[in-house]
Amino acid sequence: MSTDERRTGLSRTLYEEFRARIADGTYAAGAPLPSTRALALERGLSRATVSLVYEQLAADGFIESRAGAASRVAVGAAQGMHAGRAKRERTKPTAPDPLAGSLSAIGQHIAALKLSDPRPTALGEIDFVYGPLSGSDFPTLTWVKAMRAVESQRSRRLEYEDPRGNMELRRALQAHLSQARGLACSVEQLMIVNGSQQALDLCARLLVDPGGGVVVENPGYRMAHHAFEAYGAQLLCADVDAHGLVTEQLGKLGPAKLAYVTPTHQFPLGSFLPIARRRQLLDWAAEQRAWIIEDDYDSEYRYAVRPEATLQSLDTRGCVIHVGTFSKTLSPQMRMGYMVLPPALVQPFADAKRVTDRHAATAVQRALARLLEDGSYDRHVRRIRRLQQARQRALVDALGRHLGDEVEVQGAASGLHVVAWFRAVPAAAESALIEAARHQGVRVHPISPLFHPSTAALTSTRSAGLVMGYALLDVDTIEDGVRRLSKALLHLRRKASSHHH
Ligand SMILES: Cc1ncc(COP(=O)(O)O)c(C=O)c1O
Repeated sequence: MSTDERRTGLSRTLYEEFRARIADGTYAAGAPLPSTRALALERGLSRATVSLVYEQLAADGFIESRAGAASRVAVGAAQGMHAGRAKRERTKPTAPDPLAGSLSAIGQHIAALKLSDPRPTALGEIDFVYGPLSGSDFPTLTWVKAMRAVESQRSRRLEYEDPRGNMELRRALQAHLSQARGLACSVEQLMIVNGSQQALDLCARLLVDPGGGVVVENPGYRMAHHAFEAYGAQLLCADVDAHGLVTEQLGKLGPAKLAYVTPTHQFPLGSFLPIARRRQLLDWAAEQRAWIIEDDYDSEYRYAVRPEATLQSLDTRGCVIHVGTFSKTLSPQMRMGYMVLPPALVQPFADAKRVTDRHAATAVQRALARLLEDGSYDRHVRRIRRLQQARQRALVDALGRHLGDEVEVQGAASGLHVVAWFRAVPAAAESALIEAARHQGVRVHPISPLFHPSTAALTSTRSAGLVMGYALLDVDTIEDGVRRLSKALLHLRRKASSHHH
């Protein structure tokens, strides 16, 4: 430990001691403090250290010092601290209620979502979770090389950039989207965001008024729904069938300013929205003068065919906001996503992004630009697509071999998850199935939470369904997991029949 460090350690201890004594009333308001010389002697500290602590206490408003007189405890210093402590205690997540009244309307909407952290995967548990990617799939060497190159070419002026993001990345992304997605846009229309979630948040803030209607798919991506609910939007739920959003329902849902859809790969049921329905959706939007968010979250994982054209490419009025992410190909921890904005929305969204967080982190954007430019991103995507396809095949095969007609697999044409419907298990027994699986060391995730709560009763006639992700697992583990899942089903069946007798 250097002298400097020791000094800062000692002065912090002394500072905290004074704060504590002022808080508990040992030093009351107006009480004189010992002179720096006396205290330094008493504690065996240098006078400079004590003076520094007094200066800090004065700067923070706990004491008042006047030249030539003893420093005194400031009036009101203790109350401030009591209040401070009480406030800290009240914000503990265990007791949110007393605070609720002092939250803004938006704060209360968010509190009402009752979000919770998912339980982490237990040791040795086979977890068919959807969302995380495997760290071993990440192109670490390529990324480190790109980051090193970026950091060694730091620009001379470290200034804020365009709120829409770094120009190198937007140019590279424009080329990539044109080539990979057949999507035509100008770099002006491109905005880099901190993951799709920020795109959804900005849409909710800029396009929906409190109480306004937002059309969503049911079942659907609940994190999108929550982004809208956070601002007091009213969700208008449209059903999803084997061909995606049931667009015939749009007309009777009521007025809406916004629709959120996953047309390339409906989340979670996995269907592709056919062209006729796309046109119906666009016609509806024209009639309502509504915006449409096209969430293109995993189009890289079309296995049998190339990804179809985007909804954005059919849009002649400029009402589609195309959203994409690097959370499914690189890492959800990167928080890199993008929006293709209709021309009319470019300025409002750029301004909103600026007042929110200025812009996305430059170094990460520039490293990503390099990966896109030198072809290593495309190579990585081809590689990871093969890996994910092999995992998906292993899962679908294993489900077929171990469970046969017991399960119906939906949505296996693309993506990083499938839905497994357990034909003979009613929806009400979904949690019993999950519990039985847990006893076999397998973690599976129900589809129920992806339905809007208001429609739970309507969907209770369906079978139990699981959203099964496989991106974290290798093929042998997938096989093992499904074998255990079939055992769980057997146990569940036995238990049910013993109840009958
Ligand atoms: C439908 C859907 N959209 C978007 C995302 C990605 O979100 P983000 O880009 O905020 O990580 C996911 C991830 O699970 C998703 O399932």
